[in-house]
Order: sequence, then C-alpha cells, then structure tokens
Amino acid sequence: MAEEKSYEPFVQDKVSEKIAVYPGTFDPITMGHIDIVNRSLEIFDKVIIVIAINPTKSALFSLEDRLQMIQDCFPADEKRISVDHADGLLVDYAYKRGATAIVRGLRAVSDFEYEFQLALMNRRIEKEVETVFLMTGLRWIYISSSIIKDVARHGGDTSGLVPDHVCENLRQKFMT
Ligand code: COA
Repeated sequence: MAEEKSYEPFVQDKVSEKIAVYPGTFDPITMGHIDIVNRSLEIFDKVIIVIAINPTKSALFSLEDRLQMIQDCFPADEKRISVDHADGLLVDYAYKRGATAIVRGLRAVSDFEYEFQLALMNRRIEKEVETVFLMTGLRWIYISSSIIKDVARHGGDTSGLVPDHVCENLRQKFMT
C-alpha cells in the first residue's frame, strides 16, 4: 500500500496585500481592458488602473473624461480597484504605490514585441516590479481603442465592445 503523505498546511509568513498597476491610455476603456482588470482581480488583492502618458498618442477624450469613464465601470469594487493617472515613469509610480507588478494584456503575437521591450526596460529601471502578462479573453482579441473610435467616428455601432456609458460618450463626441 502506498504510504500516505501528509503535508503541512501552507502558512504565509507575512500577509501582505498584493497590489498591481494596470497602465494604459484608455482612450477610451474597452471591454478588453475590463476583461484584463477582472482577470487581475483573481490574482491580486488590489488593482490600480493608471492612465499613463504615451507621448506618441494624442487622446480623443480628456484625462478627466477617461478617469470618469473608468470609474463608472467599477462602481461596486471601490475597495479593490482604484483609478489614477501618472505623468512620470510608470515603474516609479508602481514602486511608490507599493505595487509589485505591472499588468499588461496580450491580444495577439503582434502585441508581444512592443510589450517585451516595455517590460525589459521597466525591469532595467526597477527590478522590484515585475510585469505580468494576461491573455485577453478571446471575444476581445480583435479590439483596440483606436478601432472602436474609428467605428464610432463613422457612425458605426460600438455597443457590446465598450460599456454603455462609453458608447454614449463616443456617440456624443462624433455627433455632427
Ligand atoms: N483589450 C482591448 N484593447 C487593448 C487591450 C485589451 N486587453 N490591451 C491593450 N489594448 C489596446 C489599447 O486599447 C490600445 O489601443 P490603441 O493603440 O488603439 O489606443 C493598445 O492596445 C495599446 O495601448 P495601451 O495598453 O493603452 O498602452 P499604450 O501603448 O497606449 O501605453 C504605456 C503604454 C502607457 C503603458 C507606456 O507608454 C508607459 O508606461 N508610459 C509611461 C511612461 C514610461 O514609463 N515610459 C517608459 C516605458 S518603458
């Protein structure tokens, strides 16, 4: 008869909150981003969604509008989700907020090269902060904020791809 093994229950020495930062331009937030936030909450105790500056992009929505749209997506999760913006280096922000990880969503192989570059540069600057990649849900792998804005700009229907309030804001932006 096989010897029965007994295992000591795993006890964490130090119960500390695991905080992740989820950065992006969020112009606007999409169902794909929300999917990544929800997946992150399965792993981390808290997620800080950060609108970070990408100098290569000019945004359609103001920073205030983007912050509000994100906040309105998670009204019931105040304790575990916060929304913020950051001007400087993302890793410095993450470190100051006590985050141990930066979460990034991957949709397709084409995302990988850019994400690889960002992650390695971030690690070079601050080795205490790891980058964690999560696969976006299959339903959302073809969407991006730009493609959604393009559809809305031409009067197309974006419902189901962004939350209802974002859909309405897009409609108003492009109303002639
Ligand atoms: N579902 C749907 N779309 C997604 C997605 C998902 N899960 N994940 C990413 N996307 C889309 C976004 O909508 C965005 O679309 P767009 O290009 O049409 O706007 C695109 O993929 C990727 O953008 P995003 O995730 O918003 O990142 P970004 O490339 O705009 O921003 C930063 C990258 C902000 C994280 C980076 O510039 C940064 O860290 N800036 C701070 C300054 C800094 O530290 N610089 C040094 C970096 S090493």
